[in-house]
Amino acid sequence: MTSPIDSLRADFESALGAATSVAAVKTVRDDFLGRKQGRLTALLKAVGSAPAEERRALGAGANALKQEMEAALDAREADLAAAAPPPGAVDVTLPGRVPVVGRRHPLTVVRERVEDIFAGMGYQIIDGPELEDDWHNFEALNMPPEHPARDMQDTLYLTSPLPAAGSRLATLLRTHTSGMQIRYMEQHPPPVRVIAPGRVYRRDDIDATHTPMFTQIEGLVVDEGISLGDLKGTLNTFAERFFAPGIGTRFRPSFFPYTEPSAELDVQCQGCNGAGCALCKHTGWIELLGCGMVHPAVFEAVGYDADRYTGFAFGVGIERLALRLYGIDDIRMFYENDMRFLRQVEP
Ligand code: DAH
Repeated sequence: MTSPIDSLRADFESALGAATSVAAVKTVRDDFLGRKQGRLTALLKAVGSAPAEERRALGAGANALKQEMEAALDAREADLAAAAPPPGAVDVTLPGRVPVVGRRHPLTVVRERVEDIFAGMGYQIIDGPELEDDWHNFEALNMPPEHPARDMQDTLYLTSPLPAAGSRLATLLRTHTSGMQIRYMEQHPPPVRVIAPGRVYRRDDIDATHTPMFTQIEGLVVDEGISLGDLKGTLNTFAERFFAPGIGTRFRPSFFPYTEPSAELDVQCQGCNGAGCALCKHTGWIELLGCGMVHPAVFEAVGYDADRYTGFAFGVGIERLALRLYGIDDIRMFYENDMRFLRQVEP
């Protein structure tokens, strides 16, 4: 039969073995050596009432165990205290907190992609004012005073009444980036090879395909001997680099006052590879941009020799490109700043 001393020692050893913190060691100390509740304390108290022949051995054994326990508790406490980090220390084993990293807006991603493609073809990137005057936005682009785009219904004017045709006072929010053609040619002689990205404004109600502010990139190339072939080659190259090598394109005749001839460029729908789907309204084609050969009247407005120089121009909507690239069907998503949407688009 094991003695009460031995069984208490065994209990103590297993309790201390399981204590892995300084606080746990203190609990073990209280359980065994506590003044009121301690199990060894109780045993020591009971020595006096033990039968006389056992008293001496029991007392000696209990006292020895008490010292053993104190020494073991002290040693264990010292070990744990030495291993524990000092108060306030950084626990370098904790997993790190991942910082939230910002990312570029999808419209910025697309604009930069377009800029890279044209920069790679030797184009300079230029910038200009969003507050524009009648001359640069309309008149010099061969848009006569009766042109419907000048109407209050389409253009956001900053003054009332409407500015006189050709006015050089900034009285409107530019309706397209085409005015940058004029601004650049007024300041620089040919040759010209520029793109001008920027915001434009129109009096449109907001719906899935319209916002009163959106983004365009204007392109302009002028030199001796620039031909429609150059225009087609350049824009085909752009479409292939932006979407996919070998993507089908087609040029449809169109009309813009500042180009002659004018065209619109369509690309094969990527949703259905040209077979027809909801995205392309079952035509197989997606309308991409307006373009054409610079109208001689535009050259005259900026003092270029229209007999010597020819050029081409184009204007592409960034939102439209982004909708096509990401297969999105509602332009408002770009402006609502919903992180769940923005995070899905590649950085
Ligand atoms: N300015 C036109 C628009 O806002 C786009 C455009 C068409 C620009 C033909 C051009 C061009 O330079 O030649 O819809």
